[in-house]
Amino acid sequence: MYPKAERPARPSSALAGSVTGPDGAPSVGPLTGLNEDWRRRSLAAVWHPCTQMKLHAADGAAQPLVPIARAEGVWLHDFEGRRLLDGISSWWVNLFGHNHPAIRAALVEQLNELDHVMLAGFTHAPVVQLSERLAALTGLGHAFYASDGASAVEIALKMSAHHWRNAGRPAKCRFVGVAGGYHGETVGALAVTDIALFREAYAPLLRLAATVPSPDARAAGDGEDAAAAAERAAAALADWLAAHHAQTAALIVEPLVQCAAGMAMHHPRYLQRARELCDRYQVHLVLDEIAVGFGRTGTLFAHQQAGIRPDLLCLSKGLTGGTLPLSVVLSTDAIYAAFYDDAVARGFLHSHSYTGNPLACRAALATLDLFEQTDALRSNVVTAARLAALFEPLSMHPRVRHARRQGMIFAWDVASSLPDFARRYARHALEQGVLLRPIGSTLYAMPPYVISEAEGEHLATGALAALEATLAEEAAGHMPTQGEVDGV
Ligand SMILES: Cc1ncc(COP(=O)(O)O)c(C=O)c1O
Repeated sequence: MYPKAERPARPSSALAGSVTGPDGAPSVGPLTGLNEDWRRRSLAAVWHPCTQMKLHAADGAAQPLVPIARAEGVWLHDFEGRRLLDGISSWWVNLFGHNHPAIRAALVEQLNELDHVMLAGFTHAPVVQLSERLAALTGLGHAFYASDGASAVEIALKMSAHHWRNAGRPAKCRFVGVAGGYHGETVGALAVTDIALFREAYAPLLRLAATVPSPDARAAGDGEDAAAAAERAAAALADWLAAHHAQTAALIVEPLVQCAAGMAMHHPRYLQRARELCDRYQVHLVLDEIAVGFGRTGTLFAHQQAGIRPDLLCLSKGLTGGTLPLSVVLSTDAIYAAFYDDAVARGFLHSHSYTGNPLACRAALATLDLFEQTDALRSNVVTAARLAALFEPLSMHPRVRHARRQGMIFAWDVASSLPDFARRYARHALEQGVLLRPIGSTLYAMPPYVISEAEGEHLATGALAALEATLAEEAAGHMPTQGEVDGV
């Protein structure tokens, strides 16, 4: 990963060598030495994702770029022995901690047998075993693989429209998504993403998709609860589908939590109504569980809390426990059957070079083993309740709004006159040794499931201290830095 000569001495244990502990003392301070070197070289050579590079420039005051040398458990270690608690599971991918010995061992074993083989015309044990296990877990028996979440969304959209074409209904080729929805940033996925910051520059490239109101529980009116807000959004969906179903191939939804919309959470009633409406109007229900799948919301898959099954299910991120890129679209027998034919052109002629990569599939199998071996869903109930208690002082803070939780996802909003308040907040969190990310005026924590009580305390006290530090900055009348910011 980096030249050996420049590798810092490795602390004798995961936590030794750190200048901080759960006492909240600053752990990412001004960058020096090796950290500064990697930062400078990265800024010269790497175009970082989802980033206005200028915010990293100069002294990095607006948005520091943090070099990471290695990671273990919930900790990210820099090049000089300091560490950060990965409070967002590295963009929501990590489940059982970094560098998990069981996943690492499975990968090494797989590497000794088969690194890669193309999946068109060939097959291999890890992809077969993974497909069988995912089918048993979801009731969706046909697994089509890709690498990233956005590619899975592209596949689901193409599969849906092509299914209707094969079924003799080519007019059903449009899509409808939910306000604030996020499904990735390739051109097809971006077309069903409703986040202006990501869309605007590419609007001329995007095929128009419709958007229906979000069931976001924060939008509940006076006297309304989350279930009523969900019913109201479902009624709007019903009106929309009644008018447009003849041209609509699929509805795409992030079940229970619209993460990139600022961890907008909704009642499972919305999913039940969406399922009924999609059945009534012959529209596919595509569930995007790329962010919320694999236990994040409390059940293995979020849609299980609504007691429904989608027509197409997109999975990625946690699928490999956060080690390698892999995504999959699982489909019903009915959709699969529409492609099964003598005519080649009626088949699903989509491919990616690394589709079903054996290493990634093996990491996914090891991840599924960990769910079974550690009884993770049950222990997450305890971990999440413990974290919720630790977060209570933050949730009760007079400046915090809509403190909310769904399973192992914690989020809170802070209203401020500073347009970049949340970004400043995240920067102060880094100074507390905690990685949090802002989305609009929302901050959230989505830690790996293996977070211990002491680590949870470090996360919660760091998040509270960072809030106080940002409020002090606001009170001191700091001017906003460049632009409003968001990102995920
Ligand atoms: C719900 C959802 N769908 C799709 C994606 C896109 O996944 P990827 O970034 O792997 O392309 C994301 C990424 O955050 C997501 O949260």
